[in-house]
Amino acid sequence: MRVAVATACANIALVKYWGKRDAALNTPAAGSLSLTLDRLRTFTTVERIDANADALVLDGVAVEGKALARITKFVDLVRGDDPARVRVTSLNTFPTAAGLASSASAFAALAVATADAFERTLTPTELSVLARRGSGSAARSVFGGWAKMNAGAAPDGSDAAAEPLEIGVELAAAIAVANAGEKDVGSTDGMELTRETSPYHAAWIETVERDLPTAIEAARAEDLDRLATIVEGNCLAMHANAMAARPGILYFGPSTLWAIDVVRKLRAAGTPVFFTIDAGPHVVAFTPPAHLDAVAEALIDHPEIATVLTSQMGEGAHAIEAMP
Ligand code: DP6
Repeated sequence: MRVAVATACANIALVKYWGKRDAALNTPAAGSLSLTLDRLRTFTTVERIDANADALVLDGVAVEGKALARITKFVDLVRGDDPARVRVTSLNTFPTAAGLASSASAFAALAVATADAFERTLTPTELSVLARRGSGSAARSVFGGWAKMNAGAAPDGSDAAAEPLEIGVELAAAIAVANAGEKDVGSTDGMELTRETSPYHAAWIETVERDLPTAIEAARAEDLDRLATIVEGNCLAMHANAMAARPGILYFGPSTLWAIDVVRKLRAAGTPVFFTIDAGPHVVAFTPPAHLDAVAEALIDHPEIATVLTSQMGEGAHAIEAMP
């Protein structure tokens, strides 16, 4: 074993993953499409420790309980029968668990670092499959830029992996981070409850299957108007589906509706920009880099928006020499 360090960027989905095919293998019921963002980054070290149990240090704080159990279960996938226990030390450059895709960068970095620590050589597809076992969205963060997640069909989940897409259009993101802290319903529980109880779930999965190829087509054609309609429609359909669960899941906060309105008004006035929202109140506005500052400035002016993070497209997960 060796000490292994890796970094990965989070990603934000333009066509969303919300529903699993198999919860044990963590395979998605449908594909998804995302952009990897360099501002939302995780750095992770995996090293052997002389102990009976694994340890987790997240942003400088030792963490136990459910979060550590999730890490141990993940490391077991690589460790197999090896009795070695590890310490996972992880740093995020953005707020954790506020619905800002922290599990995507976390498990993509952890996949790279764990494979490296146990001296296993994996192909990019195998790394994506491994990252998916930790978190579905992490499969996409193995790759930089545009990434497409394939739902796959193999019973063992070996083809439920992401792949990078060659798409010429550059988009940057302005992320309007709401004041709210940790979300009440995490995405794993939220999507399971939605699958079990929402009367709209089958229609949602069909919507994703239609949106995925058309979004890719619109992006390839650099047709941002068409992409805006698909991406915003897909996001609102995901939230409509979650809202229709019992009990209903509502991720929007007061600043969410305000920011949606800001984005749509900017677009109506001629700025190429569109929004998406993950499992939290934060609105992510995508726009070509030339418009980023103006979009970010328009989004700051709300009492419940703490900050607006701006990001360019990011690189794929990879090993690095040392933590920052
Ligand atoms: C709304 O990847 O966090 O961000 O596989 O259970 O860990 P698990 O779920 P996760 O869900 C992401 C949900 C989303 C949409 C997306 O990223 O596609």
